Amino acid sequence: MLTLEKPKASVTPIKKINPVFQVKDLNIYYGDTLAVKDVSVQFPERAITALIGPSGCGKSTFLRTFNRMNDLIPEARATGEVIYQEWNILDPRLDVVALRKEIGMLFQKPNPFPKSIYENVVHGLKCAGVKKKAVLDEAVEISLKQADLWDETRDRLTKSALSLSGGQQQRLCLARALALKPKVLLLDEPTSALDPISTAKIEELLLELMKEMTIIIVTHNMQQAARIADYTAFFFQGRLEEYGATAALFEAPKVERTKQYLSGQFG
Ligand SMILES: Nc1ncnc2c1ncn2[C@@H]1O[C@H](COP(=O)(O)OP(=O)(O)OP(=O)(O)O)[C@@H](O)[C@H]1O
Ligand SMILES: [Mg+2]
Repeated sequence: MLTLEKPKASVTPIKKINPVFQVKDLNIYYGDTLAVKDVSVQFPERAITALIGPSGCGKSTFLRTFNRMNDLIPEARATGEVIYQEWNILDPRLDVVALRKEIGMLFQKPNPFPKSIYENVVHGLKCAGVKKKAVLDEAVEISLKQADLWDETRDRLTKSALSLSGGQQQRLCLARALALKPKVLLLDEPTSALDPISTAKIEELLLELMKEMTIIIVTHNMQQAARIADYTAFFFQGRLEEYGATAALFEAPKVERTKQYLSGQFG
């Protein structure tokens, strides 16, 4: 009988990189359903990597692996290896709190706590036991400046975070993540609920932050991937179909399905 072998993903090796994540044979299940299939890939440090692909192809599931957010979904289960520095992220003995301190995350919908702007930024630090007011004050100023929100909020730090606009709330969530001095930022469609000006602001910030941290961003906006990502990974039905430098992937995709997706033949 003829068996059709699934072609391997076209993964262009990226030269001269320090891989921050090394993913090997990763499978992620929800119950019996396989949502991420056999993914092996390495992501470089101090670069922006975009994850693209049609709705339901597994981008968020894959992204959430890196800081073990899938732990919050009882039926989710992963096999394979995801190496971050000296840690195997999938190891059940891993200190997830320590991992999430290094690997921060931003979601599609800004999700500030219903607390003051100040308390939002210092939340993680306080949880980590930092009490000194001077230290917290300094972290608030630095983080809000990094998120380009300081000028807009310096006079209203005690006001509720919910009084901010959507774009400001997303920058506050960014400041909250940055206060923990993460080495990696995971972003799941962080600008899809924002207007073009707020989106441009976040993109500018990511390009600045990338100089000192690794960024992995899920986006439905292909122009966004083209604008800011050094590398792009295209997923289709749970598989990594193609991965490489963004310009090369967009201009000369090697896999037919990538070509079809980029030319808008399916969404
Ligand atoms: N909590 C869950 N329980 C069961 N199945 C899930 C769960 N979350 C996601 N899935 C399934 O896993 C697959 C991948 O979903 P995922 O959310 O990762 O896709 P996505 O690429 O992020 O899609 P979108 O672009 O719409 O956000 C889908 O088939 C989805 O239905
Ligand atoms: Mg998603």
